[in-house]
Amino acid sequence: MTTSLRIAVLVSGRGSNLQALLDAQTQGVITSRVTRVISNKEGAYALERAKISGVACETIPSRGKDADVFYAEVLTALKKESPDLIVLAGFMKILPVSIIDSFPGRIINIHPSLLPAFPGLHAQQQAVTAGVKVAGCTVHFVDKGCDTGPIILQKTEPVRDDDTAATLAERLLAREHEVLVEAVRLIEQGRVAVVGRRVVIRSS
Ligand code: GRF
Repeated sequence: MTTSLRIAVLVSGRGSNLQALLDAQTQGVITSRVTRVISNKEGAYALERAKISGVACETIPSRGKDADVFYAEVLTALKKESPDLIVLAGFMKILPVSIIDSFPGRIINIHPSLLPAFPGLHAQQQAVTAGVKVAGCTVHFVDKGCDTGPIILQKTEPVRDDDTAATLAERLLAREHEVLVEAVRLIEQGRVAVVGRRVVIRSS
């Protein structure tokens, strides 16, 4: 059975992954709805995308503010929204335990590497520097670590000899959009279960 989930998306920048979710809902690929977008950066293009799609959005600035205060504000906003699912889509902050524990098993993140390789910042540059031949992206549940939670889905992308971090990032982004939409589709279908460190995808 498919449930239409109310999704809150946390962003920091251009919001192409958010757009992938918005397009997927418009096209009927997912039945879930993005109901709120929260950016920690003022002027993030993701906010424009939300407005264009008629999705409620707000900025909770992280800059120039005590981290505890910022995260308390985010938690308050999320509790008010009470989403079924929280998607970190280019959200460049690490959520504290207080937020993770408030939404157990309901926060996912998209990361541009084949985790557990290359967590953290500049994942595409890390892949090019390491000389790997296959890169990729990962959607995972968020736990207390940095990009360490149980892996839901991954997609691979070959690394070309002449790739730079920028060219690889561009191709990976297309894979990210696919894998994020697919992960939300599986979650709304109730097919995703966490068993220890592993995520089991039930056949429909
Ligand atoms: C993506 O590469 C995402 O994996 C990473 O930051 C980038 C955000 O892109 N965490 P966008 O804002 O969704 O376009």
